[in-house]
Amino acid sequence: MAKTESRVAVVTGASRGIGRSIAERLGADGLHLVLVARDEKRLADVVSAIESAGGSAESRVCDLADSAAVDALMAAILEDHGRLDVLVNNAGINRDGLILRMSDEDYDDVMNVNLKAAFVTCRAVARPMMRGRWGRIINISSVTGLIGNPGQANYAAAKAGMIGMTKTLAKELGSKGITANVVAPGFIETDMTEALSDEMLSEAAKRLPLRRLGKPDEIAHAVAFLASEGAGYVTGQVLTVDGGMVC
Ligand code: NAI
Repeated sequence: MAKTESRVAVVTGASRGIGRSIAERLGADGLHLVLVARDEKRLADVVSAIESAGGSAESRVCDLADSAAVDALMAAILEDHGRLDVLVNNAGINRDGLILRMSDEDYDDVMNVNLKAAFVTCRAVARPMMRGRWGRIINISSVTGLIGNPGQANYAAAKAGMIGMTKTLAKELGSKGITANVVAPGFIETDMTEALSDEMLSEAAKRLPLRRLGKPDEIAHAVAFLASEGAGYVTGQVLTVDGGMVC
């Protein structure tokens, strides 16, 4: 790659929380960022933050629950840039409830945003990454995908599915210089965990070896490593960033 040509990275769910941190960090590392989420205004704020720090970014509004829209979005990004080097599937939702009361709709919503959208984006980047003989696919799962969690059958299924899919991609695409890895966060301070009570969060933190919740930037650091040149011999791995919860 010529020195002046930036690698292009897509980060989904980049409007806030962990996705925003990942986008800002990859932007600081010199990649051109394509930020995807639903909230145009929040995305514009993230683009400004990246540009103010000397980076380069653009945003695309898309509802990831709509797989046809995701397919069209990826085709448009590829058409505009002619390349796609790093894909971070970060967007995720939860619709918690015990299995006895979980509706089909809550199951389907979580599977569509957390897993099907990731499948569609991975499929879309495979060919261009193979052509470039370089690629980094990083899927954001959860410790729930490894150990389960009461009330999260749908979320655990999607996050575990992401791990199986990523390991498969590592095997299918490795010979073309493409790595595929998972980052599995534990409790991270974002809007997603804001919904939990302070008492529940402080109890959870007390049980962790590191005795505290994680910060979005601590996930971003792990992603930046997996996206780097230096991580070229790491593939098919699940990197838990969870204060020691699963160890
Ligand atoms: P968040 O709720 O703060 O942000 C989620 C992002 O996904 C937002 O940008 C939102 O706009 C986007 N998004 C959600 N549904 C979308 C849709 N239909 N179309 C387009 N964009 C959509 O969540 P947070 O905490 O930043 O989580 C990021 C990822 O990390 C998720 O995949 C989550 O499951 C995972 N994770 C988070 C943990 C935590 O403790 N915060 C723990 C383990 C995993």
